[in-house]
Amino acid sequence: MKNIDSYSHVRGESVYLDDIPVIRGTLYACVFDSPVAHGGLKSIDTSAAEQSDGVVCVITAKDLVGENQIGGVVPDEPLLAEGEVHFQGQPVAIVVAESDDQARKAAKLVTAEIEPLTPVTDPRVAAANGELIVPPKKFVLGDVTAAFARCEYVFEGRVELNGQEHLYIETQGAYAIPTEQGGIRVHSSTQGPTAVQRAVCRVTGLPMHKVEVDVQRLGGGFGGKEDQGNAWASIVSVAAQLTKRPVKYSLHRMEDMRMTGKRHPYSSDYKIGLDRDLKIIAYEAVFYQNAGASCDLSPAVLERTLFHCTNSYFIPNVTATAYSCRTNLPPNTAFRGFGGPQGMFVIEAAIAHAAENLGVTAAEIQRRNLLVDGDEFPYGQLAESDAAASWQQADEKFPLTRLQQEADEFNAGSKYFKKGVAVMPICFGISFTNTPMNQARSLVHVYTDGSVAVSTAAVEMGQGVNTKMAQVAATIFGMDIGNVKVHSTNTLRIANTSPTAASAAADLNGRATQIACETIRDRLFTVAKDLVEAATVEDLSLKDGFVYRSGERTALSWRALVAEAHLRRVSLSEHSHYATPGINFDWATAKGHPFSYHVYGTAFVGVTVDCLRGRYVVDYVKGCHDFGNSMNKAVDYGQIEGGIVQGLGWMTMEELVYDAEGRLRSNALSTYKVPDIHSVPKEIDIVPLADARSSLAIFNSKAVGEPPLMYGIAGYFAIRNAIRAFNGSSPTFDCPFTPEKVLMNLYSDDRPMSDE
Ligand code: MTE
Ligand code: MOS
Repeated sequence: MKNIDSYSHVRGESVYLDDIPVIRGTLYACVFDSPVAHGGLKSIDTSAAEQSDGVVCVITAKDLVGENQIGGVVPDEPLLAEGEVHFQGQPVAIVVAESDDQARKAAKLVTAEIEPLTPVTDPRVAAANGELIVPPKKFVLGDVTAAFARCEYVFEGRVELNGQEHLYIETQGAYAIPTEQGGIRVHSSTQGPTAVQRAVCRVTGLPMHKVEVDVQRLGGGFGGKEDQGNAWASIVSVAAQLTKRPVKYSLHRMEDMRMTGKRHPYSSDYKIGLDRDLKIIAYEAVFYQNAGASCDLSPAVLERTLFHCTNSYFIPNVTATAYSCRTNLPPNTAFRGFGGPQGMFVIEAAIAHAAENLGVTAAEIQRRNLLVDGDEFPYGQLAESDAAASWQQADEKFPLTRLQQEADEFNAGSKYFKKGVAVMPICFGISFTNTPMNQARSLVHVYTDGSVAVSTAAVEMGQGVNTKMAQVAATIFGMDIGNVKVHSTNTLRIANTSPTAASAAADLNGRATQIACETIRDRLFTVAKDLVEAATVEDLSLKDGFVYRSGERTALSWRALVAEAHLRRVSLSEHSHYATPGINFDWATAKGHPFSYHVYGTAFVGVTVDCLRGRYVVDYVKGCHDFGNSMNKAVDYGQIEGGIVQGLGWMTMEELVYDAEGRLRSNALSTYKVPDIHSVPKEIDIVPLADARSSLAIFNSKAVGEPPLMYGIAGYFAIRNAIRAFNGSSPTFDCPFTPEKVLMNLYSDDRPMSDE
């Protein structure tokens, strides 16, 4: 079944923030942001901007009616800089003008006197200075010290992982409209309408019931709008409050790249110990997360790094420690995988390190250590593992030895092109690790003409959640999906929402919608029982717009039933609540059962490296993935393909460059390379896991939003294997593997190039 948005998408009729018709009298905001990454803010001069054409006012921290604070987890993030600037791109003043051009022009006229302070951009330096966002977090299983003493082989190393720009096609933005009696309606491009509502309330001093946040859809979020929509919504709301006029701000691409946080770069140390049979018996990892200038979601991202630090492997003795380090970069934030990929990469690097020294393939070590049922994760939960099943099914369909053999044969006959193959098993926990967030609500109205309106807390951002919500209602009401309309995510219809994140939106909101629809259906069945003279309501069902009795179609249509129920004063609406059962986690002991279930899969990635130029192509990504009982194959395969390409981009070409002064140099699409149609894998072939276990998720489907991104990690290791085929070297673990770095590693050793 097609994504319900596809028709309006391809016709350019879908409505994003910038498509909302503006109200007459709307003003435009533009931020003056800090030109330096760290300094004492001595004074701000707004006089020239104030004189500029069309300018209505210039707002600085002192003008705010509420608090100058938008930090959601830790209150360490001023909306507008005050006293000090902490990163290049930090908002300092808001210029409000009659037109967008006038606002942007005037913002350039604001100046600030900033006394330079030394910026810190390296998380290890920040940690050494004691600059931690929160106290370190640690997972311990077994006893690593004792276990290392017993190991046959021990390897230690270091991994550098760079961040990643979200590059959602729709930039950040918001539109605030004053409503009567001092309220504000905010249209925001956010994954977290309630987070926006809270931030807006804090900076305006308004109570939550006076602030309405509405989200039609996003042109992509990828985690970048889980918390980071808050600033822009707060900026326009503050301006609307002070001017009493609607105010809009839609960021230009370069503003967005400069001012918003990204995937967290990490610097990590590992130590891995194996026995003679290549069983990993001890693993120690230390993660230094580059959090940027304020907390944002960093502690939660850090936690997921720990949760996924052993990926799909059972390791009986683990100590993993993680530091969230405050630096002078924009506050880094959620990004598809939410710290999980950074944890998984390090264990994969450790395994590759061991394999290269022991003369076996990494796949050999990976396969021998896959989780089996009952294995304990370092955080206490016991595995219900499909790690081996997905590996086997991938191997049956795409025999790994044959893929490896093809590469070896090719390499034997080719001097300047080399192929590399790598395997990536994944294990990704589904649920917010912060247990209270695992709840959702849905509001379903059936109208007297039989059509259905659904509102949930889920935000549509391209991942197809609205299609899945419509499918839930259409399935339960036995009707065509065209009779269901999924409406915007709105804090008046659905309050206290969790953000659309953690891949859990369809799971949580789907279950809430299911409950609402079933409640309405059951009410209607009591009416129908009368009308069709059924013995019990259990005899009734709905299909194709009609009521069925004992499997036989009756003359009673859905539409007639609904109309009759309304005449009998039966409610045709329901607001329902769902909370994931059976999950818990206690940070005091760092143990619990945080995940409702895990998603498993295995992918084989093959690349060809041009060993003269350092360029490469990804030949294929093949494997087996657990979709559960997929609700929508078209949508889920879209997530697979998008996730894989985004993961490969992070691993291979997307290179964020901050200079020593903390200024972003890769600040535009001319200097920041993302995968295009030429760099996607030539073939992506992922088969669904057969005999998938059931889950608590909606209709036994499984979350699919984030896990596929991590297959991209094998892209790095496949390139590494191709380099090894060329020169036998072991490059340092430093991502992304840009063509430039590949080239340097192809010729890094002292040996002259042979020319036989
Ligand atoms: N797919 C598209 N097209 N656009 C997005 O912004 N975000 C990803 C993923 N897939 C995203 C996407 C992220 S980070 C998450 S957490 C999930 O979708 C969220 O949606 P879900 O919970 O409905 O899977
Ligand atoms: Mo996704 S990183 O959880 O928004």
